[in-house]
Amino acid sequence: MREVNALVISNEKIAKDVFRLVLESDLAKELLPGHFVNIQIEGHFLRRPISISSIGENHFTIIYKVIGSGTKRLSEYQKGQFINVLGSLGRFFSIHEDLERVLLIGGGVGVPPLYEVAKRYRQLDKEVVAVLGFRSSEDLFLKEEFRALGVKVFISTDDGSEGFHGNVIDCIKENNIDIDFVYCVGPKPMLKACQDNYEKGYISLEERMACGMGACMGCVCKDKNTEGKYYRVCKEGPVFEIGKVII
Ligand SMILES: Cc1cc2nc3c(=O)[nH]c(=O)nc-3n(C[C@H](O)[C@H](O)[C@H](O)COP(=O)(O)OP(=O)(O)OC[C@H]3O[C@@H](n4cnc5c(N)ncnc54)[C@H](O)[C@@H]3O)c2cc1C
Ligand code: FES
Repeated sequence: MREVNALVISNEKIAKDVFRLVLESDLAKELLPGHFVNIQIEGHFLRRPISISSIGENHFTIIYKVIGSGTKRLSEYQKGQFINVLGSLGRFFSIHEDLERVLLIGGGVGVPPLYEVAKRYRQLDKEVVAVLGFRSSEDLFLKEEFRALGVKVFISTDDGSEGFHGNVIDCIKENNIDIDFVYCVGPKPMLKACQDNYEKGYISLEERMACGMGACMGCVCKDKNTEGKYYRVCKEGPVFEIGKVII
């Protein structure tokens, strides 16, 4: 883990309140799918954790939603400015070369980290199916980018304005998708449903964080099987095997 000043290459709006920020830094060489970075934003004491969406030779991409004052300020950074970033952080998604098919399940701003997972499996010429859930069509992003990788994409929306009307689990059932190894990132109810329906794969938790590097115990979650055993989401997570922690 180290601190770098990354150069803003672009910072563009791609959906309602959602921005794609491309940063140039040799930190890219140390990043893996599922890692996150902790971003120092002008005027804010605590850094903001954001997942890595895509990794290039000397640049990486994050996709974030404007929620409060930190992400609002982040959306104002312009090409040519520098942003102080701490990374790589957290436990990453393992890629299993022996698998022939994987299912990616994402919800809202949980979708971005799945993009690099899809890239890695497609580079290995594996079958990748993605079921991506959003509130509404105006919130939708990355659909075409996943398709361009050769991923079979299903969209579900809460209001039915695009794709399947309902949640991702019902969308999977409706389309008879029977892949049993999953990568799931999204809001807690989605992760819980994923954990209830699948036995193999990974989830990534999004917990409120302070230090983001294992020092403050501000982000703990409980082991599902052993009473009194805890994990720091920022250090032992955010990626966990399905069934390992209580959601
Ligand atoms: C491991 C991890 C990966 C994440 N990846 C992404 C991503 O790829 N894209 C994305 O849009 N968002 C992601 N988030 C959520 C993102 O960190 C928050 O939306 C962001 O910190 C909100 O900051 P704010 O100042 O705009 O909001 P405010 O609500 O003003 O923030 C106040 C404080 O609460 C914290 N906070 C608020 N919401 C969250 C949250 N959901 N998780 C953690 N801390 C929070 C902030 O860090 C800050 O310290 C991730 C969170 C974690 C923990
Ligand atoms: S945020 Fe401090 S230990 Fe995880």
